[in-house]
Amino acid sequence: MYVEINNLSFRYKNANEDTINNFNLSIEKGEIVSIFGESGSGKSTILRLISGLELPTNGSIMINGKKMVDETSFVMPENRGIGMVFQDYALFPHMTVKENVKFGLKNYSKNEKLSRVKEVLNMVDLEEFAERYPHELSGGQQQRVALARALAPNPSLLLLDEPFSNLDADLQIKIRGELRRIIKKTGITSIFVTHDREDSRAIADKIVILRKGIITKIGDPKEVFPNEPPVWC
Ligand SMILES: Nc1ncnc2c1ncn2[C@@H]1O[C@H](COP(=O)(O)OP(=O)(O)OP(=O)(O)O)[C@@H](O)[C@H]1O
Ligand SMILES: [Mg+2]
Repeated sequence: MYVEINNLSFRYKNANEDTINNFNLSIEKGEIVSIFGESGSGKSTILRLISGLELPTNGSIMINGKKMVDETSFVMPENRGIGMVFQDYALFPHMTVKENVKFGLKNYSKNEKLSRVKEVLNMVDLEEFAERYPHELSGGQQQRVALARALAPNPSLLLLDEPFSNLDADLQIKIRGELRRIIKKTGITSIFVTHDREDSRAIADKIVILRKGIITKIGDPKEVFPNEPPVWC
């Protein structure tokens, strides 16, 4: 398995019960997994643990055969090679689209940076917007810039936190399909969290239902939400 999360538990310092309780998840290379749950169920906390922003109280995380964390080891977030798209996109307002995307490219020569930026902007269909600033873009376009920035360094794993929460309903539906297509094209293994069951069904190969930090169900979209046909059929 490409990602192996075993017996992961976590409690915030001021909490009196576990925020994440014995979380186990295996992900194959190239698979898109959705973590679905209501507000406060621990979705963002899982992403914070995977990206190394929090230290688990118990358990281990392996990515591509490399140990990220267990009882005795901890890889710093910047060394995990994980790409992240945040709920509010977190674009740098004073940087153009091109500069935003270039920002994550550390160990590239100047020419490699230019060609990689061009490549990912093309992937998300934003080449003509390269010189614009974030405030000159629509919500959907900003979201694609955030995706391009996360994809640019070719991450080992892509994490997306509620990627559609800032979009209006029509755009959300349009972008769901696009997001799946772009991610599948890159082949990057991805986890995205949402409280929208349609988002989960439209994008994920596998859905994990999280309730109060505990996995209550896990399976392919048809097993997890059996009454409705997947929307991409
Ligand atoms: N820094 C923190 N300190 C203490 N408790 C926290 C902290 N961050 C989150 N929590 C608590 O941990 C629980 C899980 O929070 P988390 O942000 O993971 O939920 P979520 O599923 O992402 O919710 P949402 O859908 O609203 O984003 C919540 O009860 C929340 O109040
Ligand atoms: Mg959250």
